[in-house]
Formats: sequence, structure tokens, C-alpha cells
Amino acid sequence: MKKVLFTETILRDANQSLIATRLPFSEFEGILKTMDKAGYYSVECWGGATFDSSLRYMNEDPWEKLSNIKKNMPNTKLQMLLRGQNLLGYKHYPDDVVRKFVEKAVEHGMDIFRIFDALNDLRNIEIAMEETIKRGAHPSAAICFTTSPVHTIKRFAEMSKEMKKMGAQSICIKDMAGVMGPGEASDLVSAIKDSVDLPVILHTHCTTGLAYMTCLKAVEAGADVIDTATSCFSGGTSQPATETLSYALKQLGYEVNLNDDILTEVNSFFKPIRDKSISTGLLDPLVMATDTQALNYKIPGGMLSNLISQLKAQNSIHRLDEVLAETPKVREDFGYPPLVTPMSQMVGVQATNNVLQGERYKSLGKEAIAYCKGEYGTPPAPIADFLLKKVLGEEKTGTARFAETLEPMFEKTKEQLKGIARSDEDVLSYISFPSVAERFFEQRKEKEERKTKYTIEPID
Ligand code: CO
Repeated sequence: MKKVLFTETILRDANQSLIATRLPFSEFEGILKTMDKAGYYSVECWGGATFDSSLRYMNEDPWEKLSNIKKNMPNTKLQMLLRGQNLLGYKHYPDDVVRKFVEKAVEHGMDIFRIFDALNDLRNIEIAMEETIKRGAHPSAAICFTTSPVHTIKRFAEMSKEMKKMGAQSICIKDMAGVMGPGEASDLVSAIKDSVDLPVILHTHCTTGLAYMTCLKAVEAGADVIDTATSCFSGGTSQPATETLSYALKQLGYEVNLNDDILTEVNSFFKPIRDKSISTGLLDPLVMATDTQALNYKIPGGMLSNLISQLKAQNSIHRLDEVLAETPKVREDFGYPPLVTPMSQMVGVQATNNVLQGERYKSLGKEAIAYCKGEYGTPPAPIADFLLKKVLGEEKTGTARFAETLEPMFEKTKEQLKGIARSDEDVLSYISFPSVAERFFEQRKEKEERKTKYTIEPID
């Protein structure tokens, strides 16, 4: 019978989706050696928001954190989520930075790079893919799943062929909003399997309640790997539960090589952390529930809550229905971008402005202007003509890959940071999040000075 593999997401996506990525190394260190024996295909533990959150809120060096995870889990493949040319930030970096970042991540123990671009513009994942291959790690190319008149199963399947040509060793279907239904999963996995001879991975979220059905149908259609989270950190905006899917798939006769006793131990370890997070308010029990609004409005749950807070801040919550009606129109004008960071924010802000200012596109945000100029890549469909004229006048949208217009910056930044940055890793942290990294460097220094003072204290 067919084998199904599991990627455990507790350290990255479940952590990010439920408790705002606030899990410090010291809290999960004690379970890593056990997790190493569970039989996971991989453990997603880095990338996404973990890097920023480590530096910003937990005063941890993300690079050191990665090495320490590797030390405790030498037998399990470590996996990260990388936003292509954006790395872990929100803007495009020059190629030399992308290459250095991948090189250093591999040095610290990263095995699998899941690489995506918010617009599915494959030129934006090319450099990261190339470098991953060069460093001997596994490049997994991800398709951002979304629905629109231009997003067809056929087009996604074509994309998987392109990805294979670029050297992808597996294809991930990334349903960041949890809006993919079981029918779509079945059709999409089959179409990709028919197009490329590569392992297919399904990544989804439980937000709308579809995830278990979606995973099952994906597996039936031939998906090789599914993303799941240990049960106490599953459900809601997180992934479906590891134990539940393992149980169900085994019952259906699939080969699942997970150790049930270890899975129980892992869950028992994280339960008190979950309970503590609920009692401190870090984990809002509401995000663990099912919310089907994303299916009605066709926008991700996280985006809806952003729209609500934006409107509340401007005393205009009574205009929510108008903004919700405007959002799909803006998305259409923008050429149907998948509503994933940073496009979800850009479209949401524009829809709000269009409604509140009483005139559509009376003003455009800095990001939206850059987007129209082609600085984020090529949208799935052309941007509306009137919008392009408004932004560009007689100019033409840039057609070059945007990163090609950027000057190399790694060596230059390293030079600037002499005396502040101690390593190439520090330089990369700084390039990714300048002010946050700077504060981290200062605090690190202070901490060390305190330690030195203490250790030279006379003990007579
Ligand atoms: Co996700």
C-alpha cells in the first residue's frame, strides 16, 4: 500500500498560526531528542516569521537556534519556509544576499527549503532554488493556491513543470488560507502527478474546517507528504492533527511510519505550553475554532481580521460590508494576486481607502505603486489599464526581474557593520531586519558584559 509521509509543523507554522511565533528554544529544547525518533519526513522549524520573532521578541539568535535544533535532531530533516527573493522579509533583496542566506542556512543545518513567491512569478524563486541545489540541500518549490478566473488546474500543473525544469525535487501545494476544498485537492494533485514525476506535498490550514477532508482527498489522489501539527497545537488557523491523520490513514491501509508512542510523548510535552499560552492570553481559543467566513468572502481569515481592525481604528466599522464588496474588485484590478503576504495587506489597504475616501484610487499606497511598476514581479493577469496609466503615465511597466535592478549589498553592508556585526550571519540578520537586529546586537553585548563582570567577582 502506498506510503504517506508527514511534516510536523509545531515549531514553525503551528507556532506562528496559534501563538504569534513566540516559542523560544528553551521551551522546546527538552523534546527535540524525542521528536528525532518520531519518524517524520521533516520538521518545519525555521523561516516564515520565526526569524524576525526570535530577534524581535525573544532575544534569540535565529542562526544559533537553528544549529541547536540540528544538534538535538541529527536524524530528522529540518525544513524552512522561504519567500523566494523576499527571503524572510517583505521586499526583494539582491541576488548576492539571497545566495548568502541560503548558503548560511545550509551551514547551520537546513535540509529542505520550501520556496515560494507571492505572485507565483517563478523568476522570483529561481536564485534561491539554484543556490539550494548548489549547496546540496533539497529545493521544494511551492505553488500558492488561490482561486480566480485565471487560476486554473491546468495553469498550476504547467507551473509544476516549470518548477521541475528549475530543479525542484518536490512540489508543494501551499493553501495558506485553508480555502482549498477536497474536490480541488483531488483535481490539483492528480494534475500535478500527471505532469511531473516528483513527490507532491500538501500544506493547508484548518481555518475553514476543510483541511482533514482536503488532506484525505489529496492523499487518495497521490500526494506523498502532508503537513500536520501535534494535536494540542492543531486545528483552527493551524494544521490538522498529526495523530488523527496518522490513525485515519493507517485504518485505510496506507503505510505510515510514525511511532505512536513518540507522538503521544510529543503531544504531552506541548500540552502544558498550550495551556499556559491560553491562560496568559497569548493563545486566543477563538483561533482554534472553525471560521467559514473565508469561504464566503474568498479572503483569508487573517486578512479579514486586519480589515476589521483597520476600520475600527478609523471609526468606520459600519462600512465593513462595502469594504468586503470592494476587496475582490481591487484584487481583479491588480491582476488577481494570491492573497498572501504582502499582497493581502496591499489589497486590503487599497480596498479600505477606496471606500473611505469616497473615490476609487484617489490615493495609492507606496507599495501599490511599486507593485504597478513591476517591482513585485508579474501578476497572474494584467493589471487594469486605467490603474497602470494612473501610476505610470506614458511609462511602461518594468519587465525585468526586479532583483536584477538591485545593486549587490552583502559585502557593502558587512563593511558598514564593522565592529557591530561579528559574523556573516549577523550581517544577514541586519539586512533582513535592520533596527531589530541592531537592538539584538546591543542587548547581546550588554548581556555578555554583565556575565564578565560576574565571573571576575572575587570569591574570597
Ligand atoms: Co501555512
